Amino acid sequence: QNSDSQTLLKMYADAAKLYSHILTKTENGTPALKYLKNRDLSDDLIQTFGIGYAPNNNNLLLQFFKDRDISEDVLKKSGLFAENQEGELFDRFRDRVMIPITDESGNIIAFSGRILDKEASTAKYLNSPETEIFNKGKTLFNLNNAKKEIREKGNVILFEGFMDVISAYKAGVTNGVASMGTSLTDQQLYVLSRLTDKINVCYDGDDPGVEATYRALTQLTDERFSYGVISIPDKKDPDEYIRSEGFEKFQNLANGGVQTPIAFILNYFKRNYNLNNEHDQLEFLNQSLHEIVKLQSPVEIDMYVGKVADEMHVSKEAINKELDALKRQQAVQQPAN
Ligand code: GTP
Ligand code: MN
Ligand code: MN
Ligand code: MN
Ligand code: MN
Repeated sequence: QNSDSQTLLKMYADAAKLYSHILTKTENGTPALKYLKNRDLSDDLIQTFGIGYAPNNNNLLLQFFKDRDISEDVLKKSGLFAENQEGELFDRFRDRVMIPITDESGNIIAFSGRILDKEASTAKYLNSPETEIFNKGKTLFNLNNAKKEIREKGNVILFEGFMDVISAYKAGVTNGVASMGTSLTDQQLYVLSRLTDKINVCYDGDDPGVEATYRALTQLTDERFSYGVISIPDKKDPDEYIRSEGFEKFQNLANGGVQTPIAFILNYFKRNYNLNNEHDQLEFLNQSLHEIVKLQSPVEIDMYVGKVADEMHVSKEAINKELDALKRQQAVQQPAN
């Protein structure tokens, strides 16, 4: 690592210490601390994740680093500051709860800052820009903490939000990570492949979360892994579910409630149909067959053919015939070589 990277790492470590101090030890931090307590985050948990608070001040961090003789060039490169029209730097993060983002070894390489106020007109979360030390596509939130547990449990849980990862951790589900607001990159999949061969997607239970789960399942085709889905009931996100239903119910869901991708997908399709109507039944059946035909395992195919047959009140034989026809049709369209 070059000397700039070393300096940036030191700056992020110092900034995190300062933000943490402000949150936990100063009057400026009181509203933020209250906000976190309202979200059921204990002092311990705040400590474990190194959470802090950036006060509503344009040059607190700027002055802090100027006092330490950090050059203008490095200040600019750090991503901790934004630039106004006159080219003057000011603190990028103001009046936000600061969640440090670490690399695999636990070095702080970025921040995600959350607003306290629901009504605020700015983005709910503000993330650090990419820098010499922060590559979004390589980074998985909480990987440093979760690594050991991912290996031991044999699976990783992929959450949508950082707060979901943190709440799950609090609830004893410590093998969770989150990407940086995008779908998993090849680099992130490579990192995970060294730890496990099973990825369980646990996104929010609201409509956008369900859509994102479907998208993720269609995009996650990396054959080094098998995939599962943990569906959160009542349109809640994992954090909300944990807070309303308690640790144990979430643990049961995370450990015992993992669905196969095909089970999730069939349910997902079902929402769009009125299955009392025969036209819809046929459409649903047809759409389902197009998914079932993609499965590799004969046992799995048989199982879901059976389920669909039961539900649609048709025979398995009829469905298997449709499936064979579909396979032949696809083989003609894409001849094997
Ligand atoms: P809380 O409201 O704090 O519980 O956050 P959440 O994790 O439930 O957020 P939500 O479900 O709305 O979004 C999921 C994830 O998307 C967040 O954790 C962020 O990573 C990202 N996200 C949400 N809002 C924003 C935003 O305004 N800007 C950016 N950059 N990312 C966002
Ligand atoms: Mn969401
Ligand atoms: Mn959410
Ligand atoms: Mn949430
Ligand atoms: Mn399979």
